[in-house]
Amino acid sequence: MKITIVGGGYVGLVTGACFADAGHEVNIIEVDPAKVAMINEKKAPIFEPGLDTILSRTTEKNLRASLSYDTVSTSDLMFICVGTPPNNDGSANLTSIESASRSIGNALQNATGYPVVVVKSTVPPGTTETVVRPAVLASAHKPEDAVGFAMNPEFLREGRAIEDFRHPDRIVIGSNSPRAGDRVAEVYRSFSAPVVRTGLAAAEMIKYTSNAFLATKISFSNEIGNVCKELGIDVYEVMKGVGLDQRIGPKFLDAGAGFGGSCFPKDVSSLAVLAGRAGVDPKILRAVLEVNECQPHRLVALLEKKTGNLSGRRIAVLGLAFKDNTDDVRDSRAIPVIKELLEKGARVVAFDPMAAPNMQKIFPAIGYAGSAGEALMGADGCLVMTEWPEFGRIDKEFDLMAHRIVIEGRRILSWKGAEGICW
Ligand code: UGA
Repeated sequence: MKITIVGGGYVGLVTGACFADAGHEVNIIEVDPAKVAMINEKKAPIFEPGLDTILSRTTEKNLRASLSYDTVSTSDLMFICVGTPPNNDGSANLTSIESASRSIGNALQNATGYPVVVVKSTVPPGTTETVVRPAVLASAHKPEDAVGFAMNPEFLREGRAIEDFRHPDRIVIGSNSPRAGDRVAEVYRSFSAPVVRTGLAAAEMIKYTSNAFLATKISFSNEIGNVCKELGIDVYEVMKGVGLDQRIGPKFLDAGAGFGGSCFPKDVSSLAVLAGRAGVDPKILRAVLEVNECQPHRLVALLEKKTGNLSGRRIAVLGLAFKDNTDDVRDSRAIPVIKELLEKGARVVAFDPMAAPNMQKIFPAIGYAGSAGEALMGADGCLVMTEWPEFGRIDKEFDLMAHRIVIEGRRILSWKGAEGICW
């Protein structure tokens, strides 16, 4: 199939590369010329395990990137994969969605056949029908049924996006007509996952609800973990026993410093705003966010309890990315932790295998070490913020620490001297 992807960010690029790898003809439209050049040179502008390998085996016919909407008029499917960042009130900003829709519409003016516009970006229910559809049709000067509309949410985890794309738990296709939905189903024909066909708004809601539910599992585990900590119980033992109940499931029950990243905090906030606008008080969603905001403070409070006044103390922060296998620091739990440490007068030395350059843009004045061992050298205390597997293998460095106050915000260390935030 001929596919156009609007937006060469992490979702658009992974989606485009995987479709190209499956033999489709893909064009990625991206506003950043530097990204366009990199994609055309078969280099990934973001770090995502496996992506470079896929890019390197695509041909120019399979995958190319451009600044223009030239290929839209001959495409079978156009996926909108642009960002929906939060507004100040927590709602989703749809500016890029609207402008992508208008640009697609303009490019469709001379199109023949039945083009289908698919929203993959995470958007509030109603967006495809009331924002995307009118913008495309008005700019295309087309009658209502000349263009199909679908909503096909992504469930890709950063750091594991290729695997998630290829082996999804389910494929959700919302559409405004069976014909549009069938076209999207066709591109996923070789996948073995169950396909859920819905209307447009239900598909949009499935994405928000999935992320909100996963975030709820994490905040719930964190709250139980906080109780366990006070009672001297290991929350990981508890959740192992709880998660084996098939009605609950073992995943996303890892207690710790809370969830970060570009999705959970933003999507839960946006859903809460949406609930409020619909006249529903989002009590659970508010609590999910509140628990999440408290975890970093609990971590610093625990450290302070052990070290005493943090003023002038050297504190090593291991892990800056919002999770392992990525250089992304958006909403990383390390940010509020470092901020509070600095407010309390601590000297922060940070280390991350990948994310230090990105964190440097937020905290240019703290120390950055070239290794975990260097960060720990002379440290009065250490906070572990990201579940990088390599942190589980640095017992020797911890043994060398003079005071050995090590607190984990993620359960990753095998070193027995560490204490966990919830265990
Ligand atoms: C999340 C979802 O998992 C994807 O399905 C979704 O497509 C994506 O958002 C999105 O909306 O684009 P992602 O944000 O990349 O993916 O990362 P996750 O692996 O879900 O982790 C999010 C945060 O939760 C991380 O900070 C992680 O450390 C934390 N987490 C995760 C926990 O604290 N405990 C857990 O048990 C699991």
